[in-house]
Amino acid sequence: MHVLVTGSAGFIGFHLARRLLDDGHSVTGFDGMTSYYDVALKQDRLALLERSADFRFVQGMLEDRAALAGAARLREPEVIVHLGAQAGVRYSIEAPQTYIESNLMGSWSVLELAREIAPRHLLMASTSSVYGANAHIPFGECDRADEPLSLYAATKKGMEAMAHSYAHLFAIPSTMFRFFTVYGPWGRPDMALFKFVDAISAGRPIDVYGHGRMARDFTFIGDLIESIVRLIGIVPDEANRQTAVADTLSRNAPYRVVNIAGGHPTPLMDFIAAIEACLGRKAALNMMEMQPGDVPRTFADPALLKALTGYVPGTPVTAGVRAFVDWYRDYRRERVAMPLSIPA
Ligand SMILES: NC(=O)c1ccc[n+]([C@@H]2O[C@H](COP(=O)([O-])OP(=O)(O)OC[C@H]3O[C@@H](n4cnc5c(N)ncnc54)[C@H](O)[C@@H]3O)[C@@H](O)[C@H]2O)c1
Repeated sequence: MHVLVTGSAGFIGFHLARRLLDDGHSVTGFDGMTSYYDVALKQDRLALLERSADFRFVQGMLEDRAALAGAARLREPEVIVHLGAQAGVRYSIEAPQTYIESNLMGSWSVLELAREIAPRHLLMASTSSVYGANAHIPFGECDRADEPLSLYAATKKGMEAMAHSYAHLFAIPSTMFRFFTVYGPWGRPDMALFKFVDAISAGRPIDVYGHGRMARDFTFIGDLIESIVRLIGIVPDEANRQTAVADTLSRNAPYRVVNIAGGHPTPLMDFIAAIEACLGRKAALNMMEMQPGDVPRTFADPALLKALTGYVPGTPVTAGVRAFVDWYRDYRRERVAMPLSIPA
């Protein structure tokens, strides 16, 4: 199978491309190598992928429809996995335009490409942030998600809606993933785990938002990739409509929304304790208010994922954090003074 992966130099795109190559597939990666965080980390991920003869890379911005079409022309993909995006809740307050460009215009480019080449399956990354401050837990895909608290969430919800219309109009089989705080080796320097490990290792205090009274349904990258790979093979269709659980399969389009997470929220302070245990150091805590746009808790209902794939993410945070810290130490040794160009 030939797969086009957007965001292939990013955290999740890199892991997915690597897994697909390991499984004997070929991959075209597409990424704008944006400077939201350290581009060297993206280049290092890319260099690993480029060791495979079955991997080709095109650098370009999603909004540039000609560049994206060019990547698809190298070899026409049977499957498109769209992971490229401007991620991050907090940065969407500072730099809203990049979210409109990357997540709305960029995702529309991907939809136009799918309209043109009619892939067997189009899969796109959405987020648990679309649930906003929903009080009803766990978050089920059929729950209302109409009150986003950040522009990031709003652009992802917009992407889902655009994709439904294209799935309906042009019969593009489409799956929207809702990811929940993904973490692990090669992770993002703007996310809590990377920032905490960095600060604690250097003896700096860590900023703990919401006074630590937050919880996240942390999902280990290996579990996320396993889920994605299984879902690639489950093309939305009446034949696989689930009846034992609430299914989001549209009555008007070959379109489905699926949470990917284990359904086990971890309190932030337990997550920090797991990091401290791995590093063998106590963290100095700088307790802060909740950040604007943030939500106190995420908690997935993984029933639909389980019904479709027979699989639910299950790596305990203690093991996942250990895997990250092992990678971080190796990576730091190789790039002793790795600069972290994280937006303030
Ligand atoms: N990591 C998480 O916890 C998480 C949670 C929910 C949703 N998601 C979503 O999953 C996807 C992958 O996230 P990630 O953690 O790998 O993020 P990432 O930032 O590491 O990867 C995204 C990649 O997209 C590229 N990119 C950004 N804007 C682009 C544009 N306009 N044109 C071309 N390339 C562009 C970046 O260079 C980057 O390499 C994103 O859609 C994100 O919104 C991630």
